[in-house]
Amino acid sequence: MLPKIYDTQPAILDLEAGEYFWCSCGLSGHQPMCDGEHTGTGLRSKKFILTERSIVRLCNCKQTRTPPFCDGSHAALNG
Ligand code: FES
Repeated sequence: MLPKIYDTQPAILDLEAGEYFWCSCGLSGHQPMCDGEHTGTGLRSKKFILTERSIVRLCNCKQTRTPPFCDGSHAALNG
């Protein structure tokens, strides 16, 4: 399946250092992180690691070319 657009703006989060799993399918009920809803879609979560506390812009439109981070692709959806 193609990813579902969850939102047309990124999630700007202040996250502690650690390991995270970003939702690539748009179906998670725990956006922008994975909750396992992608099972059976052919899509997979994207693991990322923060080595220090960071403010991040995580893609919510699921169209980014630099997952899990927003690359501005959502701008084309806000038309
Ligand atoms: S929210 Fe997806 S590219 Fe910005």
